[in-house]
Amino acid sequence: MNQEKSKVKVLVIHGPSLNMLGKREPEIYGSTTLDEINAELEHLGMALGIFVETFQSNHEGAIVDKIQEVGATQNGIIINPAAYTHTSIAIRDALLAIDIPIIEIHISNIYKREPFRHKSLISDVADARITGLGVKGYSIALKALAEMVQDR
Ligand code: DQA
Repeated sequence: MNQEKSKVKVLVIHGPSLNMLGKREPEIYGSTTLDEINAELEHLGMALGIFVETFQSNHEGAIVDKIQEVGATQNGIIINPAAYTHTSIAIRDALLAIDIPIIEIHISNIYKREPFRHKSLISDVADARITGLGVKGYSIALKALAEMVQDR
């Protein structure tokens, strides 16, 4: 029980339409589904001694609620805010209110796409950002976050 309590916990947040991965614009996002990404992260988490919780929502307020709810109990956050990256002051403010390492991730390289995707309201709030490595970026983010949490 105590051991469980002291285990490092990481929350992975997936924003709108990422539940459609595998079907959604596969030429950009690939064929891996969100369930497959989450299973891989949970598996890697076990190997790293990290408890990984995953959460997906299409709703801005639900993502803000989740950040507020678990921000104080988690050791780090990996977030792909999807389209909200480019628009959400609300998610930015929720992340600003918590003091744990944050990695922003994008499957595609947002700088090689339409100009409206070049701006992220999250980047200067996050400690690091991975963009354009495909779904492999998630496991890279988890490994990096494990080190960031240890170094704290
Ligand atoms: C995305 C990039 C965003 O611009 C887009 O709205 C997404 C996914 C990515 O992972 O590449 O939904 O965050």
